[in-house]
Amino acid sequence: MPDARNRAVQEEFERVAELFSRRSAGRFDELGAVEFARTNPGERVIELGGGTGNFISAFAEVTDDLTIVDLTEGMLRVARRHHPGMKLVVGDAARLPLRSGSIDLATSAQAFHHIFEPVPVVMEMRRVVGKDGRVLIVDQVTSEKYEEIEALMELELLRDPSHAASRPPSALRLIVRAGGLEIVDEKIQVDEQRFSSWMWPVEFPQQRIDAVRSWIERWGHKTGMDFRREGDDWAFTRRRMMILAERPASG
Ligand SMILES: C[S@@+](CC[C@H](N)C(=O)[O-])C[C@H]1O[C@@H](n2cnc3c(N)ncnc32)[C@H](O)[C@@H]1O
Repeated sequence: MPDARNRAVQEEFERVAELFSRRSAGRFDELGAVEFARTNPGERVIELGGGTGNFISAFAEVTDDLTIVDLTEGMLRVARRHHPGMKLVVGDAARLPLRSGSIDLATSAQAFHHIFEPVPVVMEMRRVVGKDGRVLIVDQVTSEKYEEIEALMELELLRDPSHAASRPPSALRLIVRAGGLEIVDEKIQVDEQRFSSWMWPVEFPQQRIDAVRSWIERWGHKTGMDFRREGDDWAFTRRRMMILAERPASG
């Protein structure tokens, strides 16, 4: 089953690699992830599911030892063009081709919602950072209301069939702890978005755009994302969470 799921992710991101990179450029600019992760000059930083490098490239201001591991070769081809100095590895986040303790900071941004079984991934992050390393997970989060999570999951799947799970902050915390880590800091950022830039007509098939539009029209109010009409467009609220974690002192 994981292989079929990985193929669904690869299919989706091979198709959109270049457009995804352009659409999502700059979306982490206000996040402050480098400072939040207490990144020191020259540290070895890795991103799991790093795609075209839009997230990890922020760390280039403090280190040039940057590695992306990603399932999708097409995403890494775009990363190669934009960030020629980065190390790029095709691989699964649940089976990192890296030695234990060989990394100072293991990150992952906007990839956990594509991963059905995230605990083994956190365990891999814990393994590669060794006892003094840190782990930073960034992902979109839902509200804590079960009905809203269910509704949002339905919407996300219509938009992107490779979507695995819509999770509330409490679930992300549980996943990190189940992977054997202790949370040292967390932050939630709230962003305003527009439907027209969330589903670019050049990036998404028209049929999907139409299906998502009519779903929002009917059920958008059930997602907890505060969908508001703006002429032909929709505005909505998206929450993104950062969790910084490390190994407990005892292990
Ligand atoms: C939404 S994109 C995010 C890319 C990048 N982190 C960013 O925010 O710009 C998700 C990426 O995760 C990758 N991905 C999903 N599941 C993965 C897995 N199990 N192992 C490695 N990469 C994975 C996809 O190929 C895709 O490039």
